[in-house]
Amino acid sequence: MILPKIVIAIDGHSSCGKSTIAKALAVRFGYVFIDSGAMYRAVTLFALRNNLIANGKVDEQKLISLIPQINIEFRYNSEKQKSDTYLNWENVEDEIRQLPVSQNVSPVATIAEVRAAMVRLQQAMGKNKGIVMDGRDIGTVVFPEAELKLFVTASAEIRAQRRFDELTANGESVSYAEILQNVQERDRIDSTREASPLRKADDALILDNSNMTREEQMAWVTERVMERLG
Ligand code: CDP
Repeated sequence: MILPKIVIAIDGHSSCGKSTIAKALAVRFGYVFIDSGAMYRAVTLFALRNNLIANGKVDEQKLISLIPQINIEFRYNSEKQKSDTYLNWENVEDEIRQLPVSQNVSPVATIAEVRAAMVRLQQAMGKNKGIVMDGRDIGTVVFPEAELKLFVTASAEIRAQRRFDELTANGESVSYAEILQNVQERDRIDSTREASPLRKADDALILDNSNMTREEQMAWVTERVMERLG
């Protein structure tokens, strides 16, 4: 039996494991996984490299004027069995996860013109369905017609601890307090910005994974997808 393909939109706070869920679903159902946050991170790296951010302040007009010079792509890395993010044909997957980008991405993501350009790319990637995309505005703005929408959350302290464990496992020296502050600050900016603030779509299902194991979570989301596939 050939199952129909659907669009799965996963939104929620930073560091709550959205991409873990999205990646696992993509593997399970043979879908394309797109990490929309990586696209905002790549734009932020571009802005940093072009000295368009000073003390947390973004030169918005300059950045907007340079949007046509920003090329963002995902290329599958068969060794790592995941996609890497490319900025102007350079693999920037590792660099966009580091703290300088994390600390500046939320202000960049408030710029309406940047969002419009990213949303256009994201919608093109999803036109054939069979896609799982995670972000902040996927169920509300990018794919308002998505067949399955999840809104994922967990307490700020648990999210900071998970991010801390991930970064230290990669050998980065960071403090828990610094990470917690970054998580809380991003929550604040993401939820209060004017352009597409983070909010639950009316028809999204809430998944609070504060006290769930990965296996429990996976079983729950897989069941939700199966329901949608009939
Ligand atoms: O991995 P984490 O959840 O910490 O963040 P991310 O998904 O990599 O996204 C980085 C930042 O991009 C977020 O803090 C948001 O400010 C922004 N973002 C957004 O505005 N809209 C999206 N669809 C995805 C990310």
